[in-house]
Amino acid sequence: KAAKAWSGRFNEPLDRLAQRFNASVDFDKRLAAFDIEGSLAHARMLARVGILPAADLADIERGMGQIAKEVHDGTFPWTIEREDVHLNIEARLTDLVGDAGKRLHTARSRNDQVATDIRLWLRSEIDALTGVLKTLRGRLLDSAEADASTLMPGFTHLQVAQPVTFGHHLMAYYEMFTRDAARLADCRKRVNRLPLGASALAGTSYPIDRESVAKELGFDGVCENSLDAVSDRDFAVEFLAAAALMQAHVSRFAEELILWSNPRFGFVELADRFCTGSSIMPQKKNPDVPELMRGKTGRVYGSLFAMLTIIKGQPLAYNKDNQEDKEPLFDTADTLRDVLTLLAELLGGLKARPDRMMAALAEGHATATDLADYLVRKGLPFRDAHEVVARAVREAVKLGKELPALPLATLKSFSPLVGDDVFAVLTPEGSVASRSHIGGTAPSAVKAAIARARKAL
Ligand code: ARG
Repeated sequence: KAAKAWSGRFNEPLDRLAQRFNASVDFDKRLAAFDIEGSLAHARMLARVGILPAADLADIERGMGQIAKEVHDGTFPWTIEREDVHLNIEARLTDLVGDAGKRLHTARSRNDQVATDIRLWLRSEIDALTGVLKTLRGRLLDSAEADASTLMPGFTHLQVAQPVTFGHHLMAYYEMFTRDAARLADCRKRVNRLPLGASALAGTSYPIDRESVAKELGFDGVCENSLDAVSDRDFAVEFLAAAALMQAHVSRFAEELILWSNPRFGFVELADRFCTGSSIMPQKKNPDVPELMRGKTGRVYGSLFAMLTIIKGQPLAYNKDNQEDKEPLFDTADTLRDVLTLLAELLGGLKARPDRMMAALAEGHATATDLADYLVRKGLPFRDAHEVVARAVREAVKLGKELPALPLATLKSFSPLVGDDVFAVLTPEGSVASRSHIGGTAPSAVKAAIARARKAL
């Protein structure tokens, strides 16, 4: 049986439980393609600067080609005796091509190797997530456009507040997901730096060319300090923090979809393909998919806290604690990818129910603020207007009526400034139309926002 890469110094084999505890191959094997990519760039650089003979490089390239194929086909002989993805691949390379495989690790350590792998992986995940976010944002624009003039109640404290348009409400989520995309792009800049060359911690005595490796692997530059290069996981925290905010946005949206699809609201209908039934209650149509989107927030927040805690108190430079960065990162990227993809799909199958939104808007005196503004335009100070309208609302509540249903004489009794033009401002249509400034809820303002967004997307 092949000895471990590091067993020379030891008097006894690794304890069985310690071996399982120490091994990461079960989860880090998903980095295989990036590990191979990084190793090939490293080997080519070694050959370029004359550290590795050309014949060895050819062997390494051939062996890695074979390994990539085995990994892809699922025939690669992964074993926890070889600890992690790096040692599994290196040992297999040596099995396949002999001494050249043993020369690959010259001027390199697993510490800078794993930091490189995880950055390559995260960069590709960020790019994939950015694509999914873009699709989602496009769907939001489509839905907002279709419902740019659809009236609904806007809420504060979950109480009817003022009329808004459904398109405007959807565009609020567009803004959130646009900031999320910007945060990912910003995080990517710090992810995209090459640690390789830092070796274990102190750099290396070989005449390496880090810049050329960075270039080959598509990094924007190299990590400046070798100690920092192998121990920095700030970029992982940044990604998880961006992911946590994304999940917060998803969760808020999911919560509204759950509420709105409840028959008591009935503002929207979710497509059947995203709902499930009950094994006992035959009538049920449950919003399981948005509920899970909301629930997944827990694991993503948990991953952020795990990562923050992992880096806390680690002395420089590399410590094995950092092996714990992988599962939270993997789980978060996978979760976000599913959640964002499903949310985009869900939007495609979402039907607004304008009749139900209007019915909800007819209760709650949603245009009371418009009445106050009307009085202000007639010369009353706003605080006085607020008081006048509040008294009118109290009267309406007493009579069991809505504000616009009060007779003109009754409204006049609260202020002589009320004229018969008052009813025009009490309609939800008039209310939203008057908010036509940039960022307002008027259909014209929403359409302008959508047009600007389409240009930027
Ligand atoms: N599996 C390790 C990790 O994920 C690779 C680096 C191991 N380095 C070491 N000195 N033990 O971080």
